[in-house]
This record gives sequence, structure tokens and C-alpha cells, in this order.
Amino acid sequence: MKTVRIAVLPGDGIGPEVTAEAVRVLEAVGDRYGIRFSMDFCAIGAAGLAAAGEPLPPDTRTAVGGADAVLLGAVGDPSLDGAPRHLRPETGLLALRKLLGVYANLRPVKVHPAIADCSPLKEERVKGVDLLIVRELLGGLYYGEPRGREAGRATNTLTYTTAEIERIARVAFAAARRRRRVVTSVDKANVLEVSQLWRETVARVGADFPDVRLDHCYVDTAAMRLVTAPHSFDVILTENMFGDILSDEGAVLVGALGLLPSASLGDGPGLFEPVHGSAPDIAGRGIANPLGAIASVAMLLRHGLDLAEPAEAVDRAIVAVLEQGLRTPDLAAPGGPVATTREIGERIVDLLTQAAPVS
Ligand code: NAD
Ligand code: IPM
Ligand code: MN
Repeated sequence: MKTVRIAVLPGDGIGPEVTAEAVRVLEAVGDRYGIRFSMDFCAIGAAGLAAAGEPLPPDTRTAVGGADAVLLGAVGDPSLDGAPRHLRPETGLLALRKLLGVYANLRPVKVHPAIADCSPLKEERVKGVDLLIVRELLGGLYYGEPRGREAGRATNTLTYTTAEIERIARVAFAAARRRRRVVTSVDKANVLEVSQLWRETVARVGADFPDVRLDHCYVDTAAMRLVTAPHSFDVILTENMFGDILSDEGAVLVGALGLLPSASLGDGPGLFEPVHGSAPDIAGRGIANPLGAIASVAMLLRHGLDLAEPAEAVDRAIVAVLEQGLRTPDLAAPGGPVATTREIGERIVDLLTQAAPVS
């Protein structure tokens, strides 16, 4: 039996709480499907700073380089909000993405029928929503130079090359072919030169995918359409910052930020993490929703290891848990029963273990 090496980076705040459940689920998958996972736990973010004085310590860099896939919790600590950039937890995450070369961030937003009433939007508006945000992850304002602060002035640079736009566009069109064959490219081409290049380049790549319909949409309109007409989207293709903002809006559709998973892919090991952050307001209480982290395990199996069947088993277990009415407080009805992070993880493990044995 081949050993699959997973670098596990729990991070900060609720990161370790939700990652603990994701790891239990991965172990249950290993038992059920006869896969030997070797987990290498490493520090990142504020935990990296505490352990080694850096948000992405050298040991962590080495471990992720030798891994088949990387599972991450979340980074961020309010006590470090004022720290210089090289001593901020978020800098560790950005450095990790760059180190792994994961330029394509897939953020599926799928409304589960069992919790369609959890969205603050009308149930009939969100029921059946199933869209995928394809966010460019290594360019734009997050990495552009020059950047910095001087007295009375601060600078960030928005820049994209044609090659960077082409490679992410190809990911979006290929994903659309496996779905409903519509790509909506989101930009601000009425104002920004970068968006004009983005739009031209995406249109050119789109010509190679004649079976996929391509629409263009300004980001302000996209933000509105996401909550007024979410069914009108299949694949949303967008740059780094717009994708960050629009994906949290996806949480409004599904009813809770803690449900959303993501996969970040490049040419080497993939990075799998929930969309949410370290949630300092609820950290340490055992009440965080682990389903985004667990759904990230499903994405790790599917996209990182090409193991479709176990991935589907995890996704089915998530649906079953929601159908059985287990809810962390972010999803629970007022006065209704509430489950802990651990209870949700345990139930998923039970469901995976009890399911019919693999033939
Ligand atoms: P956040 O995503 O941590 O939290 C936003 C809100 O959602 C909070 O009310 C929180 O309690 C709730 N929430 C988030 N995840 C939840 C879960 N699994 N279960 C239940 N409730 C959940 O965003 P924030 O508060 O703006 O940021 C906190 C810190 O996290 C900051 O330092 C930020 O930089 C960092 N951050 C990290 C990541 C990441 O690691 N990928 C993502 C976003 C934010
Ligand atoms: C996310 C987060 C990160 C981002 C931060 C923590 C750097 O918000 O993964 O969505 O902006 O990419
Ligand atoms: Mn974000």
C-alpha cells in the first residue's frame, strides 16, 4: 500500500478545532478505503510566529514541498493586526500559496436543500444554487509591486500578465465543461486597464471552448446578481481580490461561512482549506462549524489525489449530517438543538464507517 503524505497546517483560532475534525475524517477514509495517510503537522500563521518567529517557518516549507497535498485550517490573530507585514499571520498564507504555485482557487457554493432556510435570503431564491468561483490566487493586488507605505501615502499595485490570465481562464472553461457550460468573467473593464486585458484575454481563451458560453460582468453588478439572481451563475471567473470578496458573499447563499470549502491548485501539491478565517470571536469554544474544513477534505481527495469515490462518500456524509438535523450554532434554529464541532466530526466519521463496505 502506497503511503499518501499530507502536510496538515492547523493554524490559528478555530483553525486547529476544525482541522482536528477534518483529520479524523481523513483517517476514517483511509480505514474504509485502504489508503495509508501519513500526516505531518506543521505550524503556520500566528502559530508559526510563536513556534519559530516566522509565519511560514522553514520546517513547514520543507514539509509542504514533500507532501502529496496540504490541508490548512485558518490563519489570523487580532493581537497581530498591527504587526509589520513580515510578522503577520496572513503573510504566511500568501507565502505558502506562492511557494506551492497554486494559482487556481476553486470555491464551490452549493446550497444544501436541508438548510436552504438558513440563508438570510428568501428560500426560493437560493434553493438549488450550485455555482463555482474560480479565483486567480497568485496575482493582482495581493502580490503586485511596488507596494508599501511612506509618510501620508500608501501604494499597492494591480498588475496581471496575459499568461497569468490565460492559465486561470483555461481552468474556468475546463471546469464549466464538467458543469452547465457557462462562464461569467467578472472584471471592472469600464475603469481598469488590467480588467480590459483580462476581458480580451478571457475572450480569446474562450474561443478554444466554443461549447461553453462566455458572459462578462462588472464586479459591482456581479455582487448584486449573486444575491438577486444566484441561479444565473455557473462558473464565475475572476481575479484575486474580487474573488476573495465575492466568495464570502457566497456564504450568504449557503447560510454560513463555515460551510464553504476551497481547493487551490497549481502544478505541484494542492492546498485545501475552508474559505473562512480564524474566527477569533468564537475560537476555543468548540462550536465552530467544521463542515467547510471537512468538505475541503473531499476536495483534497478529488482534486489533490484523484480519489473520486472517497470524495463522494465524504460529500454524501456531509449531506446526511445536515439532513439529520445536526447543527453548529451558526446554522441552528433559535432555541433549537445545537451540536459541537466534535459531534459533527464524530457523526461524519460514523457515517463513513457504517456505510456499505467497499467491494
Ligand atoms: P472570519 O472568516 O474568521 O469570521 C467571520 C465571521 O464568520 C465571524 O463572525 C466568525 O465567527 C464566523 N465564522 C467563520 N468561520 C466559522 C465557522 N467555521 N463556524 C462558525 N462561524 C464561523 O473572518 P474575520 O473575522 O474577518 O477574520 C478573522 C481573522 O481570520 C483575520 O485575522 C483574517 O485575516 C483571517 N482570515 C484568514 C483566512 C484564511 O486563513 N484563509 C480567511 C479569512 C480571514
Ligand atoms: C481567504 C482569506 C485570505 C485571502 C487572507 C487571510 C490572506 O481572506 O482565503 O479568503 O484574502 O486570500
Ligand atoms: Mn477571504
